[in-house]
Amino acid sequence: TGLVTLDPGFTNTASCESAITYIDGDQGILRYRGYPIEQVAEGASFLEVAALLIDGELPGAEALAAFEEKVGKHAGLPDGFGAFLAALPADGHPMATLAAAINALAAWYPEVVDPRDEAQVDSATAMLLAKTATITAALHRRRTGQDLVAPDASNGYVADFLRQTFGGPGGEYAAEPAIVDALEKLLILHADHEQNCSTSTVRVVGSSNATLFASVAAGVNALSGPAHGGANEAVLVMLEKIRSGGETVETFMDKVKNKADGVRLMGFGHRVYKSYDPRAAIVKKSADEVLEKLGAKDELLEIAQGLEQIALSDDYFVERKLYPNVDFYTGLIYKAMGFDPAMFTPLFALGRMPGWIAQWREMANDPATKIGRPRQVYTGATERAFTPVSQR
Ligand code: CMC
Repeated sequence: TGLVTLDPGFTNTASCESAITYIDGDQGILRYRGYPIEQVAEGASFLEVAALLIDGELPGAEALAAFEEKVGKHAGLPDGFGAFLAALPADGHPMATLAAAINALAAWYPEVVDPRDEAQVDSATAMLLAKTATITAALHRRRTGQDLVAPDASNGYVADFLRQTFGGPGGEYAAEPAIVDALEKLLILHADHEQNCSTSTVRVVGSSNATLFASVAAGVNALSGPAHGGANEAVLVMLEKIRSGGETVETFMDKVKNKADGVRLMGFGHRVYKSYDPRAAIVKKSADEVLEKLGAKDELLEIAQGLEQIALSDDYFVERKLYPNVDFYTGLIYKAMGFDPAMFTPLFALGRMPGWIAQWREMANDPATKIGRPRQVYTGATERAFTPVSQR
């Protein structure tokens, strides 16, 4: 009983206090643990950012090396896991397989599932960071009909992920430093984004004392939708449709503005950012550089730039404060690297893993945490008498 406040989509409800990520949506500011995203993306490695998000402070050289070693030790998949992956359709959506695979880790490692045991949570953390990369690479290998390549953490996290994904049958792979750097940067840009849909999911599931594995698997599923992480795949599908349909950017934008068939400009708009998404600004620059480097000047990039140019000066978008978000240009980079569009959202999940883990741990350690259990405003029938089926 008592008054409840109706807030669909939680547009004005803070579900927790958090010291991890700061966003000022009006000014387009994003900071991890106080550090501006631009500086972190430029200067840190992905595992360094993972340590920062999870521990709260930048690791020193020794602590970072120890963390890398700890994660690296867990890169392999357990016996039987390859057969488990092989039992799922190779051409099924990789987000479905990724969520299932992460969920299944709890069945393989029952010794690290107690959410109240700090040492177990530490092990589960290292396992998730390491094995999500191995599993994501395996998803690509399965889709492309290739045998899996065993991990070798001594190559470094991102380089070895690329080697497992794109290496030859024996894992031979010549890492292009610019590509390793570009992917490192993209993963960092995705590493956390406070209480978004998937992170809130992770916290709500975790608030029931479910395992870290169960919680982040739920996060993967929340991320899969096109209004959230699935947008990166949807952007590419949209760009390709415009190209293959011979449509002009102008006529496509007219459809968006008329809300014809619910068409949205995918990769645009954000609940919190009412100015340019600072991640999108970094990605856009990176897209130009990487596509140039790979000699993959893409017609789709021109279509994307054309759409953005119209949007930034068109009343519909200006009035609603719709700007490109992180997903608008990422797909073009992933595509140039050799990923197929269905793999884009798993790459987002790989990048977001440190954030989900950090947020889950903050939730688990916060004495103010209560089980996530929103209320409702009931609008159904008032009391009425039941009639047996024979009388209906
Ligand atoms: N294209 C056209 N119109 C849009 C778009 C868009 N992409 N986004 C919002 N609008 C309009 C919407 O129709 C509404 O108009 P009106 O006031 O006339 O009803 C207004 O802008 C406000 O939109 P909303 O849906 O109420 O805003 P929201 O905060 O609930 O939704 C969003 C945020 C990200 C779901 C939405 O902008 C969207 O669907 N964008 C496209 C999908 C996308 O790119 N998602 C990635 C989000 S960022 C990274 C991530 O989370 O993965």
